[in-house]
Amino acid sequence: MKSVSLTIDGKKITAPEEDKLLWVALDNGIYIPNLCALRDNAEPVSACRLCFVEVEGKEQPVTACTETVSEGMVVSTRGTEALRLARCGFELLMSSLSVDCAHCASNSSCELQKIAHHLKVKLKTRRFRKLLRELPVDSSSPVFIYDPNKCVLCGRCVWVCRERLGIGVLGFARRGFDRVVTTFAGEPLGESRCQDCGECVIVCPTGSLTFKEHQGIHKETIREEQN
Ligand code: FES
Repeated sequence: MKSVSLTIDGKKITAPEEDKLLWVALDNGIYIPNLCALRDNAEPVSACRLCFVEVEGKEQPVTACTETVSEGMVVSTRGTEALRLARCGFELLMSSLSVDCAHCASNSSCELQKIAHHLKVKLKTRRFRKLLRELPVDSSSPVFIYDPNKCVLCGRCVWVCRERLGIGVLGFARRGFDRVVTTFAGEPLGESRCQDCGECVIVCPTGSLTFKEHQGIHKETIREEQN
């Protein structure tokens, strides 16, 4: 495959011409906040709206997960407007999430902590009024626990279950503030067609899906191996 040369935050980089900017940046040690993208999903859903970057010649910031690299591209991940959009999106997201890191199985392996640190914003934001949903936690699976109150609706678990594994137990239901990841007819995971493979847990960027055994450690180790 042909390669292209580009610059990200002043760093000169060579990458395959079909690659998405997000993966090129991450592979070269440049962090861009992201929640919904997966490397093997060739059609990014661009749902989380956190991966904004500025590209020279473009009037508006673009999402790095959908932007394909090109020859001579000059990118800034630290532009004022891109950071403003990412911070706003993140704080809005956090305003409807339950935050209790000290008692969360994903503490210190949670992508939300990493993003908050990177954007220099608090997980417990006061910018927007807090609106919590207080949904029941599903611990019916023998392998993992699903807490919808910590779900960011990134859709990674849904995509992996349906597209990568061809199982399709998980899906989205309802709209707007009530939108939720659930099973068909909302049946408990332990009573669904779930095969307990745990792939959804591995791709979950937060503490919404966690293993009952080896909580946190197992998930983080596998995620690092995959990256
Ligand atoms: S990672 Fe780009 S919009 Fe979510």
